[in-house]
Amino acid sequence: MTYTMAELKVFENWYDKAGVRATPRRLTPQDRDVLKHFFPKHLIPHLNHPLVAAQEAPLRRYVEAQHLYQWLNFTAEFEVSVVLRATQRIADNKSGLELSRRLRMDAFKICVDENYHALYSMDAVDQLEHRSGIKSLDYEFQPFLARLDGVADAHPDHRRLVQLLQVVVFETLITALLNDVPKDTGVITLVRDIVKDHAIDEGRHHAYFAEFFKHLWGQLSTSERRLVARLLPGIVVESLQPATRSARAALRHAGLSDDTVTTVINESYDRVSVLNGIVHASARTVALFEECGVLDIPDGLDAFARAGFPQASAH
Ligand SMILES: [Fe+2]
Ligand SMILES: [Fe+2]
Repeated sequence: MTYTMAELKVFENWYDKAGVRATPRRLTPQDRDVLKHFFPKHLIPHLNHPLVAAQEAPLRRYVEAQHLYQWLNFTAEFEVSVVLRATQRIADNKSGLELSRRLRMDAFKICVDENYHALYSMDAVDQLEHRSGIKSLDYEFQPFLARLDGVADAHPDHRRLVQLLQVVVFETLITALLNDVPKDTGVITLVRDIVKDHAIDEGRHHAYFAEFFKHLWGQLSTSERRLVARLLPGIVVESLQPATRSARAALRHAGLSDDTVTTVINESYDRVSVLNGIVHASARTVALFEECGVLDIPDGLDAFARAGFPQASAH
């Protein structure tokens, strides 16, 4: 897969096309629309578990609402704490790389986009709580961030580099959710609208970070390349960990017993299904790494193979 300079022209019309510039505030209509689904059922593994599927409709609706809320709360925090943390540094010329003024300006545009995504994610939680009467459970982002940043714990001198890699990884993943939610007419219109707006912006970001990674990789020393190649699979795996903590809290609050909740979580998020999901969602990201030569470095190939990526075993 090649990302050409022509594709990055998408940022030239950012002033007219970016969600923050071109779309109105999305609102929940005052009709029965809020009675639709909060989220597509096939994207909520624990909702499809037989022990949850057998429950009454209001309980399942509560679990569905909490799943949407956790995704919105996660997005609001992630955009600011992870994506902006690194992207603002690129924009400010503090990334440690030599980058063109155009790449820095485009990073500024991405910062504006991501702040807006965080804002409308929080706005959607507020509107939906109000209209549906279902309150969002408290959301704790810190455990996710600690695990994601923990990949760099053994390499404190390279924390900033790892933060750049986190953004490259996350911004080039294939998110089924961004594709599936807007098409699902059974889902609440506000949710479909904001996911559609988000997906359009993320298409630009994807092209940007694929190009950015090529610059980053091109400017690393041999020893840094070996380190990056070793760390990347861990960053991919941590970026795509399912939100089992939130799922557990939602099921407990819905009234299921501790034992039932443990069974539901263990069986809905077993190791093999989770790994398959990670491999699928990161296929394009890993293809980008492969194209840049990350898997040509023996350490990288080993690290990806050990983490269970079939692309690496095919080498
Ligand atoms: Fe975003
Ligand atoms: Fe983004």
